[in-house]
Amino acid sequence: MYALALLALTAAAHAAPQRGGGGGGMLGGGAMLRFGCAQTVIDRIDPLVDPGKVPSPHVHQVVGGNAFNASMPVADIAGLATCTSCQFDEDLSNYWTAAIYFKAQNGTYKRIETMANQQVNGANGGITVYYTSPGAKQVTAFKPGFRMFSGDPNRRTPSGLGMKATQSCYRCFTGPNFQGNTYSPCFDPKLDTEGFPTTPCPGGIRSSVIFPLCWDGKNLDSPNHVDHVAHPVGGPASFAVTNGKCPATHPVKIPQVHLEIVWDTSKYSNKADWPADGSQPLVLSNGDTTGYGQHGDYVFGWKDDTLQRAMDNACFGPTCKGLSTQGFPVANKCTVNKMVKEDHDGWVKSLPGYDTMGSMTGM
Ligand SMILES: *[C@@H]1O[C@H](CO)[C@@H](O)[C@H](O)[C@H]1NC(C)=O
Ligand SMILES: *[C@@H]1O[C@H](CO)[C@@H](O)[C@H](O)[C@H]1NC(C)=O
Repeated sequence: MYALALLALTAAAHAAPQRGGGGGGMLGGGAMLRFGCAQTVIDRIDPLVDPGKVPSPHVHQVVGGNAFNASMPVADIAGLATCTSCQFDEDLSNYWTAAIYFKAQNGTYKRIETMANQQVNGANGGITVYYTSPGAKQVTAFKPGFRMFSGDPNRRTPSGLGMKATQSCYRCFTGPNFQGNTYSPCFDPKLDTEGFPTTPCPGGIRSSVIFPLCWDGKNLDSPNHVDHVAHPVGGPASFAVTNGKCPATHPVKIPQVHLEIVWDTSKYSNKADWPADGSQPLVLSNGDTTGYGQHGDYVFGWKDDTLQRAMDNACFGPTCKGLSTQGFPVANKCTVNKMVKEDHDGWVKSLPGYDTMGSMTGM
């Protein structure tokens, strides 16, 4: 079977025993898609939070379909995009998060490149996407036009939820080949942190962003992009723990969307290059040096009923009976042109959108 996802799945089941009974546990007919989406573009636009604004406040790394744009209509995105960077070629959704920069001792910054995740060989960096359901007919797939947001870019302190319920965490790989990858995301007491790791991570840093499990059943979006969705009554769900009960205000269970981004920090792990004052040198593209402000954006774009079928057919990993897939030689070619002409790859004096004192520019 698919070793890594099975490992994650059993680790999740082990670490978080079924709540409330009633069957529907992960190992009884649940679905867990796990697939890679290569980088589509690095750009300073944000069609969800700052539609139409070119440039938007900070840099994002974007994957998925080529309908990604400074603003995206509330429409069937699958009908607008003509290709996707994801392994499932019927997933023309877009997913994006903040980027991470390394701040050198001389005060200049470099964006840290994403790399292919474990068992997503051949992807040109990007994001690994999971959709999890507790069992057939237990979730309702998103509707065309649906979009949502997870996280808080302004947060600079722990969520207070505790590691296992946090919706954003980092794993610090101790060496090549994802060394130290044992527990489910956000479950490792040693290698997982809610803020940035405080020691070098020579094998890379993986960021996890988890989205809510419940929907109001009516609205495709809401003014803050969060209020039309909600957590189960017991609080935010851990990775792959999808059997929580939804509140009366948001009665419709949706698939759990989980994003993983792996940054290749191998070149930035020499302690001698780190700040002399002992602080850590990583900063999110929104100026956050704590890492607590990581966030994820999602615009749904699966074709027709493909996602619903995947959830109802107990699909697992990067393939699913009845759904079609493409290899990374093809997926890597689905890119969009950058709209904001600025340097997102070289050493820069300040974060794009910020001055050298760290204040936002041009807003
Ligand atoms: C983005 O939107 C602009 C303005 O509507 C349009 O001219 C452009 O073709 C769009 N780009 C893509 C990649 O769809
Ligand atoms: C700053 O430091 C980095 C990393 O050592 C180096 O690559 C870069 O060229 C330096 N930039 C300047 C302007 O000195």
